[in-house]
Amino acid sequence: MIYLDNSATTKVHPEVLNTFVAVNEKFWANPASIHTFGHQTNELLQSAREQIADILKTSNEKIFFTSGGTESNNLAIFGLAHKYKQRGKHVLISEIEHPSIIETAKKLSEIGFDVEWIPVNSEGIIILDTLEKLVRKDTILVSVMHVNNETGAIQPIEELSKIVRAQSRALIHMDAVQSFGKIPVDFKILDIDAITISSHKIHGLKGSGLLALKKFVEIEPILYGGGQESGIRSGTTSVPLAVATAKAIRLAVTDLQNNILKLQTLSDDLMVYLNTFPSVKVISPAKKAPHIVTFSVQKVKGEVMINALQEQDIIVSTSSACSSRQTKTSHVLKAMHISDDYIKGVLRVSLSTLNNQQEIDQFKIVFKRVMNVIKGD
Ligand SMILES: Cc1ncc(COP(=O)(O)O)c(C=O)c1O
Repeated sequence: MIYLDNSATTKVHPEVLNTFVAVNEKFWANPASIHTFGHQTNELLQSAREQIADILKTSNEKIFFTSGGTESNNLAIFGLAHKYKQRGKHVLISEIEHPSIIETAKKLSEIGFDVEWIPVNSEGIIILDTLEKLVRKDTILVSVMHVNNETGAIQPIEELSKIVRAQSRALIHMDAVQSFGKIPVDFKILDIDAITISSHKIHGLKGSGLLALKKFVEIEPILYGGGQESGIRSGTTSVPLAVATAKAIRLAVTDLQNNILKLQTLSDDLMVYLNTFPSVKVISPAKKAPHIVTFSVQKVKGEVMINALQEQDIIVSTSSACSSRQTKTSHVLKAMHISDDYIKGVLRVSLSTLNNQQEIDQFKIVFKRVMNVIKGD
């Protein structure tokens, strides 16, 4: 099998799995317990927090372990909006966010927040001129993802933060689920206040991730209980998952520049190839993350292509794993005004550093065969 659906999930790295098993075997105490075993387990947890804080360039107490990207996004949107609601009720969200942001923002508007949507251009990149007009003195939160999961488009976060900072005291949250480990991400490079990371997108374990805040940024909890994770995320912290997450994060940033180069070479090669087919339209913009190539075959349903490729052991997806089992059209592609001829035929190839040139070459052979049968190309 050639697995090219790494934006949906990645294969767990053996070192991450070993870490998870080892911590479960040796340090399975409750990190909140006051006995020595509890202390030792807690030390491991704090060391995982410290390693992540170092990489993201924030302080240890601003790393909150969660069950993954969805929970971190819910926590960021609800938690920041509630914490800063004395300053205003205005919230700005991009139109192309993951459902875990969009649905949460819709809930905010149901309880009295004033949520407005930042539009994107035909390349799926937020329109900064419009953002400038939308930001107000009472804007308290702006949430825009770093890399779009359906198209790979990199959003202009640095420019966005300049605009937001010039006109308001709003907090900026960035969903880095598809960017962390693929392009540089930290609080120093990007002038933002909150970052969401999901472990299973970076060869970590499903059901784990984190929300990181910049130093001095505060948040309200969305889960109440025993007060773990500094009161922000109650529930016994899974130390094995936290330590495995720290491992996945460390591995993801090791050799980042070489990994970017490798992914870029593979995706450039694929894009050049896809552009040779008259009925194929590449949807990913020029300014895209190195691991995602999204394209569409004119007047052919995505599912038809996925099944035909799968029969020959190639695994790809429609534009997002979340929407691939739903029949409704992607909100991202709609926001980009992709034409009717192409919108139903969108496919996403998403790579990881485990992929290689031979696999891309094999993809090309199979794709040509499939196109020949289906389109006569
Ligand atoms: C951009 C983005 N944000 C959030 C999520 C949700 O992450 P998780 O699966 O860890 O809940 C995903 C998952 O596909 C994603 O691509």
